[in-house]
Amino acid sequence: MKYVNKNFFVEDIKASYLAEKFGTPLYCYSLNKLTNNIRNLKNNFKKIDPIICFSVKSNPNTNLLREINKQGLGADVVSIGELMKALKAGIKPKNIVFSGVGKTKVEIEYAIKKKILLINAESKNEILQIEKIARKYKTKVNVGIRLNPNTDAKTLSQISTGKKENKFGVSDKEFLTLVRYVKKSKNLNLKCLSVHIGSQILDSKPYEKMLKILDKIIKKTKFNFEYIDLGGGMGISYNNDKKTLNLDKYSNSIKKFLKKNKSKIILEPGRSIIGNTGILISKVIYNKEGHKKNFIILDAAMNDLMRPALYNAKHQIKPAIKNNSYTNKVYEFVGPICESTDKFGSYKKFQKLKENDLIIICDVGAYGVSLSSNYNLRPKPAEILIKKSKASVISKRQKLIEII
Ligand code: LLP
Repeated sequence: MKYVNKNFFVEDIKASYLAEKFGTPLYCYSLNKLTNNIRNLKNNFKKIDPIICFSVKSNPNTNLLREINKQGLGADVVSIGELMKALKAGIKPKNIVFSGVGKTKVEIEYAIKKKILLINAESKNEILQIEKIARKYKTKVNVGIRLNPNTDAKTLSQISTGKKENKFGVSDKEFLTLVRYVKKSKNLNLKCLSVHIGSQILDSKPYEKMLKILDKIIKKTKFNFEYIDLGGGMGISYNNDKKTLNLDKYSNSIKKFLKKNKSKIILEPGRSIIGNTGILISKVIYNKEGHKKNFIILDAAMNDLMRPALYNAKHQIKPAIKNNSYTNKVYEFVGPICESTDKFGSYKKFQKLKENDLIIICDVGAYGVSLSSNYNLRPKPAEILIKKSKASVISKRQKLIEII
């Protein structure tokens, strides 16, 4: 994705052409970027040869999941819906892991029937529920137990999951009790220790700390886990600073960890695979002068992209066509929704914009569409996949009739 002269291109197609052809707001993904991200991740983790399960919650589009499957990844799912979607996209059950604190009976039964690789349990009562269902089906189910390592991931508090005040996983004490219990169970097969300390992690130190904690607790269990599932969380750059998690450092720490622990590593990346593959193209509806700043009112809103409203997340905004005429007014980009948090960021220096001009909101491939809603009864946008000079609709724009 880059400018060629004045025009923003997604692979070989102008963003302005896509907007005209498919309408706005419009999610566009680059297949080339997706392929590069997967290759990059595989290369960085080559030395530990992990099973990589794409975290479906970051983007559950069936066509994207098919591509991800073709490129050899499995899936990390957190609901029966995501499990069905992963299977529909052709991902083999033996490459699917199921996480989440509140799996229902129906979800557990479905996962057992489909014989997925692992159900990662997050509490004693969930273990008991899985055991009960496994007994009913006279089977032995592969389970993992998620540890809450009480590790600060040094990320936004809203997307931090590995501290003791978070609802995820079990304490070290509970973990040891559960390991003893599951080892003796006739219907449960203890296979995995799982963790996930948070998302958008840019510093490798929390991961190193987490690995040390795992090391200690594994020693205490005196059990050889076939799998260690380290979750996802690898951060990407949302601005020009190009700061991303140092994957080489992280994989070296895992390699060190594996010298003492002979297990197969599972990784559950979402954002690092799909985040920078997607943009959201939006059109200016109005330019409105406020008391202190100018509002650029877009046709995209917080229902289409929730991250700024929910986490105060910053996504870069760029013009689809550069015109080199700068304004000295502050522009605040907002959507039409009746909430003051429906905004995408302020810029002191942006090019002059008028009605119908197009802008690009960057890096929205992860937790963009997956967090979208019909708030204010707005239909969900279309999604397009770009492969060189070919653009295919991979999710149709929702029709108004479907929601009214
Ligand atoms: N595994 C588990 C168990 C998870 O809970 C998550 C994300 C992942 C893997 C994938 O994490 P990733 O590699 O994408 O960081 N909506 C927020 C992010 C929430 C992440 C929830 N769990 C956002 O837009 O930043």
